[in-house]
Amino acid sequence: MMVANWKMNKTRDEALAFIYAINESLPSCDDVNTVICAPSILLRDLVKRQGDNLKIGAQNMYFEEFGAFTGEISPVMLQTTGVEYVIVGHSERRNLFGETDDMINRKVLSALKHNLKPILCVGESLDQRELGITSSVIRKQLEANLKDVSKDDILNVVIAYEPIWAIGTGKTASASDAETECKNIREAIKELYNAAIADEIKILYGGSMKPSNAKELVSMPNIDGGLVGGASLQPDSFLELVKACL
Ligand code: PGA
Repeated sequence: MMVANWKMNKTRDEALAFIYAINESLPSCDDVNTVICAPSILLRDLVKRQGDNLKIGAQNMYFEEFGAFTGEISPVMLQTTGVEYVIVGHSERRNLFGETDDMINRKVLSALKHNLKPILCVGESLDQRELGITSSVIRKQLEANLKDVSKDDILNVVIAYEPIWAIGTGKTASASDAETECKNIREAIKELYNAAIADEIKILYGGSMKPSNAKELVSMPNIDGGLVGGASLQPDSFLELVKACL
């Protein structure tokens, strides 16, 4: 699975030019599940033009369906645009916009209720890594963010391991460090659910993934793909990332 996280980038014209540039070159969804998570204002335009091998996702949503929440986008609105995925709990949302574990849990539950597949981001800060508490930080995030998510629903959740110190910094976790944490995440899912679910759930790595390191990362046994910011903004670079999954 390869997911572009465009963050707050691209005008409508740039976004449309991007998908026209990649649509014909994407492998079948059966080989690589390719997703672009775009700013909300572009979603409808992208859904209308997505080719057979591309899926579209949002980058955030609020957990309520309607109401006095100025500036927010609801799961009902996302569902009616035709998107399939929504990123939830990105560290930029947690750190810059004050999202708590409880809010993220409500967003995960609300997305699932509205047939959207949450891409749940977890990961440690540099301080936490240096203190040697990475695995326990991630475990706590998983327990809090997946609270009340049932066995029937959990396989609609994708988990992205995104060490905060690697996001947008050019510093990538080594393939073996990324593998260690993704393996721990799979182990946690096994304990919280069961072994069959842990085997099947998709776990992505994110944090300065680029064409030069993607193949090594996605070759690791517990890394099923990537969630990519900077290197997903140019069509050629994004296609190389998608092809690395093949
Ligand atoms: P980056 O962002 O690839 O630019 O580091 C990844 C992310 O934030 O999802």
